[in-house]
Amino acid sequence: MFINKPILICLIFLSSVNSIFANEVNIYTSRHYDSDVKLYQDFTNQTGIKVNIISAKGNALIERLKSEGENTPADIFITVDAGNLWKVQNYGLFRPIISDRINLIVPKKYRGVNNEWIALAKRARVIFYNKQSYLDEDLKNLSYETLNSKKWKNKLAIRSSNNLYNQSLVASLIARYGEDYTEKWAKGLVENFARKPQGNDRAQIIAVANNEADLAIANSYYLGLMLSGKKGDKQLNAGKKVKILFPSQNKHGAHINISGAGIMKSSKNYDNAIKFLEFMVSEKAQKHLVENTYEYPINSKVKPSTLISQFGTDFKEDSIKVSNFGKYNAAALKLMDRVGWQ
Ligand SMILES: [Fe+2]
Repeated sequence: MFINKPILICLIFLSSVNSIFANEVNIYTSRHYDSDVKLYQDFTNQTGIKVNIISAKGNALIERLKSEGENTPADIFITVDAGNLWKVQNYGLFRPIISDRINLIVPKKYRGVNNEWIALAKRARVIFYNKQSYLDEDLKNLSYETLNSKKWKNKLAIRSSNNLYNQSLVASLIARYGEDYTEKWAKGLVENFARKPQGNDRAQIIAVANNEADLAIANSYYLGLMLSGKKGDKQLNAGKKVKILFPSQNKHGAHINISGAGIMKSSKNYDNAIKFLEFMVSEKAQKHLVENTYEYPINSKVKPSTLISQFGTDFKEDSIKVSNFGKYNAAALKLMDRVGWQ
């Protein structure tokens, strides 16, 4: 085949550029799901773009991103809780995600103000109760706001205040009602604790299954995980004993948080990063996500896993912007400390 000289020089140049800037995308992730790895492999098979992963706890990765600054090899940071994404945004480490496709799929309230980050999936922080102790209609109008009522004294299981999920719930109430109201509310809530906060979200659900508490607050997807049997028979049996109640349905709706991602300001593979995020919100990837992590999809064309949708899918979601969870995080932490939420 005849190739003229300028084209040949151009081809040599391109191939050397390619060897310097390999066709890859580098991801820091704090999501702890093996199933995510399978998803990244699917992306590579579909696009030829290699995915390099570094995974660690959210805070450790945020510290690492801060200290690496512009020299970070990371193109994308994936994490859970809007509070974490807000922190990285606040350090000025993200750049806007410019993609019409993503904007069409991900609602505005689940993105940073200037698209610094986007949600990849949703989770609801809901109330769990024991099927043998309560009928649905007994709890019909239960809201976060009324969980501080004397009726629930010594009946509530919830994990400690150092957990970001709880901090974000409290931050959402501060954003809506202000600090004075939320402090009074939290004081009453602490008085209703069935026990000193201990364990993770699943431990709270198990406490309800074992009648150690009447109500538990935990994230929706943990029940899907327990019912899948992946966590063993003990958790499967506990999961079968409980149901989900979506709080505040006659008020502002259930508290929704997200798993999400942002692209680093210094990303050297921005186009690949955009392709990756577009893939993550695609129907194919969203189906994989909901069937493996039991989160709610961010793509409205995809249905949640049946393990979790059996408890209802047409519940009212809080319309508050998730960016508030970061904005009011410090105030939430101080407030929880003041009311003795351990
Ligand atoms: Fe979680």
